Amino acid sequence: TADASGAKAAFKFKEISHGVDENHHVAEGYDADILLRWGDPLFTDSPAFDPARQSRSSQERQFGYNNDYVGFIPLAGAADRGLLCVNHEYTNEELMFPGLGRQDNSAYAGMTRAIADVEIAAHGGTVVEIARENGKWKAIVGSKYNRRLTGTTPMEMTGPAAGDALVQTNADPSGRKVLGTLNNCAGGITPWGTYLMAEENFNGYFWNKDAAAAHPHADMLKRYGAPGEWYSWGAYYDRFDIAKDPNELHRFGWIVEVDPMDPTSTPKKRTALGRFKHEGAETIVNKDGRVVVYSGDDERGDYLYKFVTKGKFDKNNRAANMDLLDEGTLYVARFNADGTLDWLPLIAGEGPLTPENGFNNQAEVLVFSRKAGDALGATKMDRPEDVQPNPETNKVYVCLTNNKHRGSKHPVDAANPREKNPFGHIIEITPAADDHADLKGTWEILVQGGNPANPEHKAVFNPATSENGWFGSPDNAAVDGKGRLWISTDQGSAWPKTGTADGIWALETEGALRGTGKMFYRVPVGAEMCGPCFTPDDTALFLAVQHPASDGAKAFPGFERNSTFEDPATRWPDFDPKLPPRPSVVVVTKKGGGIIGS
Ligand code: FEO
Ligand code: CA
Ligand code: CA
Ligand code: CA
Repeated sequence: TADASGAKAAFKFKEISHGVDENHHVAEGYDADILLRWGDPLFTDSPAFDPARQSRSSQERQFGYNNDYVGFIPLAGAADRGLLCVNHEYTNEELMFPGLGRQDNSAYAGMTRAIADVEIAAHGGTVVEIARENGKWKAIVGSKYNRRLTGTTPMEMTGPAAGDALVQTNADPSGRKVLGTLNNCAGGITPWGTYLMAEENFNGYFWNKDAAAAHPHADMLKRYGAPGEWYSWGAYYDRFDIAKDPNELHRFGWIVEVDPMDPTSTPKKRTALGRFKHEGAETIVNKDGRVVVYSGDDERGDYLYKFVTKGKFDKNNRAANMDLLDEGTLYVARFNADGTLDWLPLIAGEGPLTPENGFNNQAEVLVFSRKAGDALGATKMDRPEDVQPNPETNKVYVCLTNNKHRGSKHPVDAANPREKNPFGHIIEITPAADDHADLKGTWEILVQGGNPANPEHKAVFNPATSENGWFGSPDNAAVDGKGRLWISTDQGSAWPKTGTADGIWALETEGALRGTGKMFYRVPVGAEMCGPCFTPDDTALFLAVQHPASDGAKAFPGFERNSTFEDPATRWPDFDPKLPPRPSVVVVTKKGGGIIGS
């Protein structure tokens, strides 16, 4: 995969152009097929999708809403068969249900317990077997592996914070049994074939500002943005009301590990990896056999973390790896102006993490990881999203999506150099001595998002980048089998600032073309691009199109309105006047077969 100069094979596809319209677009010579849509059946008894007759029980048997992370686990011995693991991050009421106009700020108007129950069931994740037949990937309805994880699936808390007083609730005095997982953004697949789901904006599900102000850890609730009061669930379920259960919110914001090979297994919330707004959790086997998990805390001015296991990965004994994530050390990053990097350990009793500073034990350090990062002097970043190690080169790519407070609330620094940073940037980290467990590393900025032709953007790409090769607000990343980097974007409300849609870009990292972007796929209006995930042979690329018709859509000609169930900006992917837009997983293949991007 390297040429004579040592550079990786450059991307060879013909790129598509920027733009905004109702449909999705992929590079010429490729097919982009719909693999799974919100509401698609997973089990032989799943009801057909009917948006006018939704219920908790039907949604629990169907593919969930707002697909984000996508992971693929090949089934042993089969190149054309595997398990797709998909996160369902959140719900858009105004697009899912008739008569709810949440975008008009009528929060909670028209809500019922029945609707809240559908929403809770539409969150979480899906494990589904897929197979390639005659060149096309299809979901296997009724596979013994298929599973829905939701906001009510019983889960276990494990690791140092499990059972602590901070995570004990009225319903669960043990502090070990949690119902469900929420706001699962990105994630990861471990080397032993488990599925990691990252709980991100958990604060939004809790309500009661008065109770939060009187909470014994009111400062920490504030530090984590709780209560967000984005959802009405607190009206129907005590655990989402801080007055009725002050500790339930401490049981969210974790990394959840799921064994997709056993649909009856209990998912584990691995507290050793800390509690923050985890964007994702990508792993790499270090050269000494320990496993390192990288994770960003997606908030303006928050931190980048890594977890290093105590034990070593045993490739010949899957069972021996199943609790590796319960013991190890969590570190937070400090980026120095000289291009070096320090990893600072979050260990109770070490450095400033003492009882005098409010850290009585490791559970308190982990439940309040942000506070520990503050005390350690970690670097406040421009919203760390996906953090992707490249096993071919040992480099690590950190997507920083944007930060309007840079230059004001968060002073400009070397690693976050652009005021307001509307378009984000990508940092490349090189671990010292190729050792991901080392406390040192070096870093440099690979690209700065935005349009290089617009001087106000202060964008930085390789000059070889075409007028379509630049992007804004990098979010997720994937490394293909050749060690090449692919980036997805989530501009959110910043769509109008670039005037173009989110999508997938191939991004050169080696040789003379380093820092050159190339546009491969574009989402329909208002969607966010998530998930990029390759099969191990690079012949299929799975993409998650999240919330079509939502973000930024109304800023564009022809779409000037608040999208609702009745009148969405697009009805992708069905374009059926009876159906709302549906978040969907897309599978991209090369016409006639072959490696994606070659
Ligand atoms: Fe859910 Fe950080 O994006
Ligand atoms: Ca994301
Ligand atoms: Ca990733
Ligand atoms: Ca994002």
